[in-house]
Amino acid sequence: MTVTKSGMSEDVADKINSLAKRRGFVFPSSEIYGGAGATWDYGPLGVELKNNVKRAWWRAMVQLRDDIVGIDAAILMHPRVWEASGHVENFIDPLVECGNCRKRFRIDELSDGDALMDQWRDGRADLSTVACPNCGQKKLGPPRRFNLMFKTFVGPVEDTASVAWLRPETAQGIFVNFENVQQSTRRKLPFGIAQVGKSFRNEITPGNFIFRSREFEQMEMQYFCRPADAPRLFDEWLAARRRWYDDLGIDDDLLRFREHAENERAHYAAKAVDIQFRFPFGWQEMEGIHNRTDYDLRRHMEFSGKDLRYFDEATNERFIPYVVETAVGADRATYALLCAAYDEEPDKEGIRVVLRLHKDLAPYKVAVLPLSKNERLTPLAREVYALVRPHFLSTYDETQAIGRRYRRQDEIGTPLCVTIDFPSLDDHAVTIRERDSMAQVRVPIADLVPALREKLGA
Ligand code: GAP
Repeated sequence: MTVTKSGMSEDVADKINSLAKRRGFVFPSSEIYGGAGATWDYGPLGVELKNNVKRAWWRAMVQLRDDIVGIDAAILMHPRVWEASGHVENFIDPLVECGNCRKRFRIDELSDGDALMDQWRDGRADLSTVACPNCGQKKLGPPRRFNLMFKTFVGPVEDTASVAWLRPETAQGIFVNFENVQQSTRRKLPFGIAQVGKSFRNEITPGNFIFRSREFEQMEMQYFCRPADAPRLFDEWLAARRRWYDDLGIDDDLLRFREHAENERAHYAAKAVDIQFRFPFGWQEMEGIHNRTDYDLRRHMEFSGKDLRYFDEATNERFIPYVVETAVGADRATYALLCAAYDEEPDKEGIRVVLRLHKDLAPYKVAVLPLSKNERLTPLAREVYALVRPHFLSTYDETQAIGRRYRRQDEIGTPLCVTIDFPSLDDHAVTIRERDSMAQVRVPIADLVPALREKLGA
């Protein structure tokens, strides 16, 4: 029975969350203290998986392109950055509190939330007849403008002069470095700047595991271009970004585009299309593609007094470039990739759980497994492990029956197992077993590394 792909259901979310905890992908942060409010820690397998997701993105967006370069900007920035960017004024969610049970909600979580959200945007949300989703009483207070940025103070004095914000998007680190990058690399339009890093949002209602948290990582790219080229480049980036998910093995029927209506677009966007993923809890945004026009650079020019215009030597013109942005959360993409990979199929022992992760994403590429824990097999198995390890991230397991150990590797997505059995002591050959097909092939130990490399396409 394949549960994902065609029929991902809510209980798949429970299964994935429990697998993630049990096998060391993701733990609730500060769990021994009862958790820390929608922040998550990545365990030994999770950190490998998320690093592989970020590496795949960086390779596609920076290393394989000659028109994009990367940066790594500071999280703490000058507070004027967030005034210029519009986040101090506009990075707002409508918060309502129930006068009876005191629970707080974002307005779109109430019954008929989308319509209420539209009314709020138009300044006419009436909540007098709306029931509290928690206690059912019709005692919701008026919506309050709640800024999602975390505020902190730089230095020993906590006064207005020392206010700093934890960045709610990585993009601003790119905008304020536009001139530095353009001049130091002598780039000509169009070109992009990419970055991967932490962002922070004081979400009113985080949830759905790592889907929406208060501390998360973003993988963002700002593509600077001539204003007239922005619409065409927008379409090209939309297609390119969807292809990236295809290449990582996400089925087409788990992806779709959704364009934002004019009144739901972020304050900086003239056009916004989400790449949505069909999570077990429904279709949700995974990545946003935005035409940010010249909004950010223009605002930074106004607020900093610096001329950030681009000089086009061919036409002798000076102008502010437009920006097409691709923005995806590393955690959210990791979660989507886990959901897309999760599979169950009947087998002799009941149900085989397989994470059909793309080989580039799998935390371990190879597991080395002696047929049994036996003092004659262990030395050769250790030798094989030492042979393989410098080439592929590998693991070694000799406890429990071999069938159980295969299942354990299937469950964490290890594409290949290498088994050392008693004949190996004489014929110096081992068996490679593939995760997806469970096909097995015998290869001489002398040829093992090239054989694994071929199967992994590495
Ligand atoms: N620079 C544009 C920007 O930040 P966004 O649509 O607000 O746009 C981009 O965020 C992506 O960041 C989202 O599509 C999502 O993948 C991720 N993201 C946003 N908020 C998040 C949160 N609270 N938790 C996890 N990921 C989040």
